[in-house]
Amino acid sequence: MLFDFVLLDKLRAARHIAVFSGAGMSAESGIPTFREAHTGLWAKYRPEDLATPDAFLRDPVTVWNWYAWRRELLRDAKPNPGHLAVAQLEGLVPKVTVITQNVDGLHQRAGSSDVIELHGNILDTRCFDCGRPAESAAVKASEEVPPRCGHCGGMLRPGVVWFGESLPSAAWSRASEVLEEADVFFCIGTSSLVEPAASLPRYARSCGRTVIQINPEATSHDVIAQYILRGKAGEVMPELLFAAWPHG
Ligand code: OAD
Repeated sequence: MLFDFVLLDKLRAARHIAVFSGAGMSAESGIPTFREAHTGLWAKYRPEDLATPDAFLRDPVTVWNWYAWRRELLRDAKPNPGHLAVAQLEGLVPKVTVITQNVDGLHQRAGSSDVIELHGNILDTRCFDCGRPAESAAVKASEEVPPRCGHCGGMLRPGVVWFGESLPSAAWSRASEVLEEADVFFCIGTSSLVEPAASLPRYARSCGRTVIQINPEATSHDVIAQYILRGKAGEVMPELLFAAWPHG
């Protein structure tokens, strides 16, 4: 892919780069996205049956087992060249912050050191009633589905954000602070349909940041991006880094 010279200059001059990522970032690691026709999770399952507090209260066994299956998919998954390129940015730019909607922890496994998880982490578990986090060893050892909280006996739930729930407030306020400071904002692999996360690219643009969109498909945020790089994260990101910093 050929890149605009002005874009390459902006990357080299950046003091702080923010990377906002969605499920497409992990697609090349074999993790299904949500909204793609045929392959997306929401093409096969109904979010209202699996990803809301009401769904959990109605059928905790089904919801727990669905997340256990998704954790199982993660077991063999590895960070792909897109995650690795994002982590590599840390050696090229003074400051890099990843703001992700993904719950898979692949940015951290690739080596990114500052990752804000807006939708939680699928490997975490906490009590539905008292909110206390649970030890993963105790969760694994439990034979109950879902396992029970060691403090209050309530049902344990995955540590992700469900529809109808608020984002973790510390994560959200840090993300907003980053946008006020970062000069370049990448928007990678997200359909940008789920609020409030989807408002971040609009906010970045209104703060005067350079917004770069990487996605094989058009999204509603194409209109706010100054640069649209049409392709897969695992191909475009490494090529872009090489074009901007050919000597590493
Ligand atoms: P979506 O499934 O809505 O969108 C995935 C996007 O990734 C689409 O725009 C694809 O075109 C793009 N894509 C696919 N393969 C790609 C690749 N190799 N490289 C780059 N882009 C690629 O996923 P999200 O936008 O992350 O929330 O969804 C947002 C939230 O909706 C999720 O965090 C989840 C979901 O419901 C909750 O569960 C609360």
